[in-house]
Formats: sequence, structure tokens, C-alpha cells
Amino acid sequence: MEVIIQPNQEAAASLVARIVARELRANPHLVLGLATGQTMECVYRHLVRLHQMEKLDFSLCRTFNLDEYVGLFPSDPNSYRHYMNHNLFRHVNVDPRNTHLPNGLADDLDQECRCYEATIKRCGGIDLQVLGIGKAGHIGFNEPLSALYSRTRVKALTPTTMKQNGPFFGGEDKMPRRAITMGVGTIIECRRCLLLATGASKANVIARAVEGPITSMISASALQLHPRSTVIVDEEAAGNLTEKDYYRWIFANEPEWEEYR
Ligand code: F6R
Repeated sequence: MEVIIQPNQEAAASLVARIVARELRANPHLVLGLATGQTMECVYRHLVRLHQMEKLDFSLCRTFNLDEYVGLFPSDPNSYRHYMNHNLFRHVNVDPRNTHLPNGLADDLDQECRCYEATIKRCGGIDLQVLGIGKAGHIGFNEPLSALYSRTRVKALTPTTMKQNGPFFGGEDKMPRRAITMGVGTIIECRRCLLLATGASKANVIARAVEGPITSMISASALQLHPRSTVIVDEEAAGNLTEKDYYRWIFANEPEWEEYR
């Protein structure tokens, strides 16, 4: 795992967007894993700008989102389909038929989860997965105690997540209690993982995920098992990390990061 510390949220999100852009230019058929949430909005703004200003081409890429609430229509402003259309898809030249999110309205949710996994496999697996992290350490909606080998499935949301996302629905009692999410096992099979966390409210969970033991209590800690995972944080989210100087040295000196400095 590599950790990159950027001075602020804007710089951290811009770095994530530039890495995505580079991978997409190197492989126009990229299979790109996407996340939602407030942290990602800034990344999508940068990607839209790269599309508009630098002709970043999404026409051949395929996308898979991590998760979707159970029971929301795509038109619901709180659905992740709506979020993705609003923040990214409708502003770039991605083919809507190539954008995938789990269907939280499926009659048979277990079958929908199996289909989602099969579609990812049919597309050759995910090349690059972008991730955020919840305050309880989840990636996707892999809440505490999610098995490290788990696959796409329906997951009940924890009180911490209900509290984190409840305000968008006008209260916890109005939000779905369950979501379909890629599993931790699905995520760590991706060829490359990029996790972005910003703000002081993520400092504690980032320290536990990056420098703590691998535990299903913090599903993001499973990224320590991944051969190519990068955690990008701003100074605030890096606040509780103990090896900051080491991470800074790597970013400042390793040739791999030269083009991003
Ligand atoms: C949603 C997802 C979640 C969020 C996490 C952080 O697709 O993957 O894991 O990334 O809950 O959300 P924000 O950025 O709103 O703090």
C-alpha cells in the first residue's frame, strides 16, 4: 500500500482524477470502478473538466459502481444512479449502456448480485477501482464484520452509516436500511485500487485502515492485502498517521510519481 499526502482536498481529488485520466488514456477500453459520496464529487468535477478542456475520452470505457441502495428508483435524487448521472455521466461522452450500477429494485436481489459479479467478469474484471471510506471504515457498503472474501451482496447498513447518510434523505428514518454492494473480495480483485479520503473527520479511520491491523471491523484495511493500492489523503485526513515523513519522501522521490508532483 502506498500513501500520498496532498496539501488539501482540492489537490487530493485532482491527483485521483489525473491518475484515472492517465489510465484511461493508456487504455481507452478501461474498466473503471466508481464510488459515490461527497468526497468523490470533487474528483468528478476534475474529470468533467479534463473531458471538456483536454478531450479526455470516455467513449470506450465501461464503468461499474460499488453500490446502490435497495428500493430506490434511478430517478430518486438519493439513488446512486442519479448521483452518477448528475455528477459525471451526463457531462462526459461515456455510453450510458456501458455504465453499470447494481439494481436495487430487482425482484430477486440475490440473483441481481450474482449477475453483477458475472457482468464484471464478462468485461474482464475491473482495471482501476476508485474508493472512498466511511467513518466506520467501510469501502462500498462493506460494513464492519464484512468478510474479507465477500462478494456482491445485500448488506444492512450500520447506525454509523445511517447517521452519516441520513441527512441526505431528510432523516435516518427516511433512508433505506439496506444496499447492494460489491464485496471486499470483489474489490480487492481489481487490478488497481485508489482510495481517497479528505477532512479531519476521516483522520481516525484512515490511521486504523492504513497503519492498523487487517480486520473485518475496518473493511478498508483489506487494501493492505492488495498488491497495488494507493491511499490519497489531504493533510487533515492524514492527521493521525505515524509514518507521514516516510510517505512524503516516497511521493517526492520515487520516479513513479514524478509526473504527478
Ligand atoms: C459509496 C461508497 C462509500 C463512500 C463512503 C464515504 O459509493 O463507496 O463507501 O465512499 O461512505 O462517503 P463520503 O465521501 O460522503 O464521506
